[in-house]
Amino acid sequence: MTQQNQTFALLPEDSSKPLNPRPAGPRPGQRRKPMKSPKPQREKGSKRKTVLLTILIVIVIAGILCTAGYFIKRLIDSKYFFCKRSVRFIPIDKACDGNNDCTGGEDEITCVSEFKVNTTHPVRLTSVQRILQVYSPGLGWRSVCSDDWTPQHAQTACKQLGYTNKPYSTSVQVVNIMSSLKSGPFAAVRAGTASTPTHQATTDRNVCKSGSVVSLTCSDCGEVVTKGRIVGGTDAAIENWPWQVSLQQGGQHTCGGALVSDRWVVTAAHCFSGSKKELSRWRVVSGQTYMKTLGGSYVDRVILNGDYNPARNDYDIALIRLSSPITVRETSKPVCLPPNALDLASGASMVVTGWGYQEEDGDVSPTLQKAHIPLIDRKTCSSPSVYGSSITKKMLCAGYLEGGVDACQGDSGGPLVHFSSSRWNLIGVVSWGVGCARENRPGVYCKVEEMLNWINTVIEKTP
Ligand code: ARG
Repeated sequence: MTQQNQTFALLPEDSSKPLNPRPAGPRPGQRRKPMKSPKPQREKGSKRKTVLLTILIVIVIAGILCTAGYFIKRLIDSKYFFCKRSVRFIPIDKACDGNNDCTGGEDEITCVSEFKVNTTHPVRLTSVQRILQVYSPGLGWRSVCSDDWTPQHAQTACKQLGYTNKPYSTSVQVVNIMSSLKSGPFAAVRAGTASTPTHQATTDRNVCKSGSVVSLTCSDCGEVVTKGRIVGGTDAAIENWPWQVSLQQGGQHTCGGALVSDRWVVTAAHCFSGSKKELSRWRVVSGQTYMKTLGGSYVDRVILNGDYNPARNDYDIALIRLSSPITVRETSKPVCLPPNALDLASGASMVVTGWGYQEEDGDVSPTLQKAHIPLIDRKTCSSPSVYGSSITKKMLCAGYLEGGVDACQGDSGGPLVHFSSSRWNLIGVVSWGVGCARENRPGVYCKVEEMLNWINTVIEKTP
């Protein structure tokens, strides 16, 4: 402000002496300096631009390198196993082949294992009313009386059945139970045995003093918020089938599976054939309707049924233990294991879910699919025009003989479920079929009920 005033004051004086430039002359020039100044500012601006451009280029290059690195890693991972100690790669099919190919045998440590069970798991629940029964050789199955039963006993019994979540027991009057069980035999817990395994905590009884027996529910399984290729199926939402998981190997959907607790997944044994035996490459993705191939739970055990026969697909069942339990929420929660002797009639309504092919030579589906299919009785499925002698006692068939709706490639290991007593039960595990949805070639499933003894024993015995 002050400077300006000075300049104006000087101008009229100066105008009469144009050739006598006053030292003040440069002043207006100085004022004009701002006219010069754009140069440095432009320089500054372009400098800024260069810096920005460099940063951008660096980011883009880093991005490209990361993506390339990711794909290269995936490619390498799909073909090789890395021996950390000896810092070298071996072909993936040498991992878990029974020979130590890395120094120290690193390639044989985290592998699929097998487990055969030829004992009877000593605790079970009956299908009607879920009555707790204990077993001992010689004495057979005995229903447990409510006499001296405590919530701690319920906790122990549920733990033996593989559950730690929300045990809940009620008593049922003996007069109201199935007629075949009414006359016993019974067993009752001894006092002070709350943490002893149930079958060891009981003594025989001819009658229950209390006149009632224990009915047990072990987890909040099989309940969903609302009621609700697969070839010929429809889009499904995970909230309605929250036990459904995607088993992925090297970021690729390989099989389906079903959560039976917050830590255990039931799937098919054939999902781990060939080069798929090494555990560090597997991830279990839960809680997703749209297939997502990033993240997922790590796996610390895969146990194949020791009687699995790859040629016949007999005993096609496996259990996966997650490295850490999932958080149970609306989108991820376990399905119930069926109680014992749940006699489902031919034609019973079942649902199969998965991200498998939507046609025989198709592709995996980005969205979870579901299909309602009826149970087919063993006689029909074993008839010469269907599968003949290929159907064993450990299998069951479901679908339409006229074809059109079925599970398909990529659905393997996934759940076949049935809704009864207000819960969804896991009845079958997607196993095999000739083609998909063909006439007289329905889907074949591993029969979970026949595997309960194996499932309960593995879950209880795995350290
Ligand atoms: N084995 C197949 C798989 O690996 C599943 C076959 C089921 N096929 C059928 N038609 N239901 O995904």
